[in-house]
Amino acid sequence: MKAYRAAVLRFTDDRTAVYEADGLLVTGQDATGREVVKAVGAYGPLSAQFPGIATAHLPGRLIAPGFVDLHIHYPQTDVIGAPAAGLLPWLENYTFPHEKRFSAPDYAAEVAQFFIAELLRNGVTTSLTFATSHPTSVQALFTEAQKHNLRLITGKVLQDRNSPDGVRDETEQSLIDTEALIQQWHGLGRLGYAITPRFAPTSTEAQLKGAGELAAKYPDVWIQSHVAENKDEVAWVRELFPTSHSYLGVYSDFGLLRERALYAHCIHFDDHDRALMRDSGAAAAVSPTSNLFLGSGFFDYEAADRVGHRYGLASDVGGGTSFSPFHTMLAAYYVGREGQTKPGLSLSPQNLWWQHTAGAAAALGLGGVVGNLAVGCEADFIVLNPEATPLLARKTAQARSLDELLFAMIVLGDDRLVERTVIAQG
Ligand code: GUN
Ligand code: ZN
Repeated sequence: MKAYRAAVLRFTDDRTAVYEADGLLVTGQDATGREVVKAVGAYGPLSAQFPGIATAHLPGRLIAPGFVDLHIHYPQTDVIGAPAAGLLPWLENYTFPHEKRFSAPDYAAEVAQFFIAELLRNGVTTSLTFATSHPTSVQALFTEAQKHNLRLITGKVLQDRNSPDGVRDETEQSLIDTEALIQQWHGLGRLGYAITPRFAPTSTEAQLKGAGELAAKYPDVWIQSHVAENKDEVAWVRELFPTSHSYLGVYSDFGLLRERALYAHCIHFDDHDRALMRDSGAAAAVSPTSNLFLGSGFFDYEAADRVGHRYGLASDVGGGTSFSPFHTMLAAYYVGREGQTKPGLSLSPQNLWWQHTAGAAAALGLGGVVGNLAVGCEADFIVLNPEATPLLARKTAQARSLDELLFAMIVLGDDRLVERTVIAQG
């Protein structure tokens, strides 16, 4: 067993944070050999239960759950900051041409290595990640994640139409490749597979049907896609699928809405769509830096809460502009402000942090497994240094409440705040 003494942040089931100013975190192996949280709480009473345990003392530091990124594209690491009029020209002029390069295994491996190092530097310990349409891109990312024992979920992108040569795949082969990758990687250690239709406009009905059949055959595999991000995209889907009730309805029609299905953006929704999300158990990956950068729109938090579907935060690199969960939480705060009709704070700092940890884990169907430091959770955590910059040190020293402390880090924080990222062993 290992023990760490520092301030400790974790979450209760009702989305609020618990903070121990002088806390103790004890980790050890469970019956299956995974390293999990064995005990957590105030140092004084808890240390008495573990006499003689070797304890790393981290004065002035804050231990928090590793962040969960619900939607990110590893092949777009080098696409960050590409300017475009909106989503569709951004895909055509920057993203598709760049993703062609991932047919080369050495190139994919080099980017995968950089990408995972960047996740870890930013304190992200679980991510649901797009690869490209090339199976080699998936092999490269799983191989690299396995080296770090990272909890990572990815999948080969399905896109058999409206896509240029070099990224377009072939319907039947794409489904054969998907199933082979599921069998090779899903559930291997901490790795998981996600069936990954890029978005409705780039898949034929046959490909979406095949994806839905695989989703039914492998119910604990994830599904990831994009939906209702941009108004031109929504209009295009209406033309391509005139009989579906809505853009989200297309995925519903093909059996792609269920638990463990994560849809990025979910902006241009009505309450019928939100109810479909809620009733199916699907979840939204809210991607505020991407939506602000590409001018896509604003996720409606009040409507999501009113109807009651799941959601959590995502960077959406490279439409998104940062790997840092602090930047994403701050952008989400701005978005909450935009849509706000009730007086008050819109999104509280505790709620923002929850959306990127325990809330995101719940959206993935991994509540109690990752994204928190409750007893039994896998021991993925970060060590934050609230004095990492002169301004952070000055501002956090003046915090009079947990909300003020968390807000100081959300507003001023970035990768410099993350002193160490610890991944569970075993
Ligand atoms: N819709 C289809 N593909 C993509 C993508 O790569 N990024 C974003 N933001 N939206 C998409
Ligand atoms: Zn995306």
